[in-house]
Amino acid sequence: MQYLIKSGAPEKQRTACIVVGVFESRKLSPSASAIDKTSKKFLSSIIRRGDIEGKAGQWLMVYNVPGILADRVLLIGCGKEREIKDNAYRNIISHSMKQLIGTGITDAISFLPELNIKDRDWYWKIRQAIEAAESAIYEFNEFKTRNKPGRRKLKKLALAVPTRREQSAGEKALKHAVAISKGMELARNLANRPSNVCTPTHLANQARQLGKTYKKFRVKVLNEEQMARLGMNTLLSVARGSREPAKLIIMEYKGGKAGSKPYVLVGKGVTFDTGGISIKPAAAMDEMKFDMCGAASVFGTLVAAADIGLPLNITGVIPATENMPGGLATKPGDIIKSMSGQTVEILNTDAEGRLILCDALTYSERFKPATVIDIATLTGACVVALGSHASGLLSNHDPLTRDLLGAGEFTGDRAWQMPLWEEYDKQLNSPFADMANVGGREAGTITAACFLARFTKKFHWAHLDIAGTAWLSGKKKGATGRPVPLLTQYLLDKSK
Ligand code: BES
Ligand code: MN
Ligand code: ZN
Repeated sequence: MQYLIKSGAPEKQRTACIVVGVFESRKLSPSASAIDKTSKKFLSSIIRRGDIEGKAGQWLMVYNVPGILADRVLLIGCGKEREIKDNAYRNIISHSMKQLIGTGITDAISFLPELNIKDRDWYWKIRQAIEAAESAIYEFNEFKTRNKPGRRKLKKLALAVPTRREQSAGEKALKHAVAISKGMELARNLANRPSNVCTPTHLANQARQLGKTYKKFRVKVLNEEQMARLGMNTLLSVARGSREPAKLIIMEYKGGKAGSKPYVLVGKGVTFDTGGISIKPAAAMDEMKFDMCGAASVFGTLVAAADIGLPLNITGVIPATENMPGGLATKPGDIIKSMSGQTVEILNTDAEGRLILCDALTYSERFKPATVIDIATLTGACVVALGSHASGLLSNHDPLTRDLLGAGEFTGDRAWQMPLWEEYDKQLNSPFADMANVGGREAGTITAACFLARFTKKFHWAHLDIAGTAWLSGKKKGATGRPVPLLTQYLLDKSK
């Protein structure tokens, strides 16, 4: 979809459709009022008949509005005027998109960014509008041969700002939002692909592809032999049960000065998690194709950063493998020496994410990073704790924690901090090795992060557990593209 920023009065817009808000109860937004005036109270006369109250979720398409240049006016219920919060705003936008898409309209102009949202400026409102719109119209049809929805007719959406003065903030928001949306789309596509297509090799090929598309990308892929030489044994211990070869994918975006320290993003890339010998139950196991959403978010964030042209160096590190049972698979009780030299007793082969991440984190030391953030669908416990609304955040550096929480608040892609206290860390003690790979039933998200913390002593590090946020289950099953907005915002803030 093509987006543009436009200023000017609603009644003067020559377009197929003007989108304006109606508040509860039957109160017109400023642009709806302007149209009402020019049309000699046409809108109020319709609304008075009671077809739209202004409640969130309501809508009404109005034709033949006299005195204006547009073919139609789409009225969108916005709820109570005083109570529009960030989230409600995004919902209003996505709702308006679903109505626009459902018609044969090819172009439209939306005045919804005029809504007042507490503490939010034009940059924010335009950016959120475009990101919400792009998310709302996303579809994954790569594998449908029948009932494929016809090509979308809506091609062009203008977002209205009141005057020329807001134009440049709007343009900047547009550029950022389009880049972030493209990153989210890539992340969602990769994650939605089934594991028989989206293998570690597929991810490596995607990375190579990006290396060709973007001048500022350097891509390197290590195979199992090269990883073995580096001593990445815990990573390889996860791959042993699988016939698909594991890969370590390294993508360097060089947008910053030559010597400036990179921000390193490490993404869990388990392309399918059966649990291994500690095999998972059958119910909903298909969703374990999403166990590479951390990796997908690294791809997405790098693409967004490159499209924005961030003046930073950013390095993506993706340990990619399947977790399968098999004749050579790692068994409970096996002890493995990690790349760091620390030994791990593997008590549960389903706690495989931390085993691939710990070696990837040790590998990241070589970049002399500014910060390292790992992103992983790491624990079911995180879904229990935070549901699908917030990602779990654990970190060894308070300023980094603050930065990430702030980026989450700004984008609506929120995270919530959990503690990394040593009482939790003790749960990992093993009688046979330096540590066990599981810490018992209690505080599963925290003990998983405590495990990773033992490999991140040499840099500022944060861990995002995205098990609850990276995809939705049930009727709306599919990847969300999170936390691409949070990560990109963090990097945008760092580049200021
Ligand atoms: N990929 C899963 C985590 C997961 C489970 C994410 C369900 C979303 C929904 C991870 O590899 C895993 O299996 N973790 C185990 C850890 C346990 C064995 C300590 C879990 O959460 O059950
Ligand atoms: Mn697992
Ligand atoms: Zn997993």
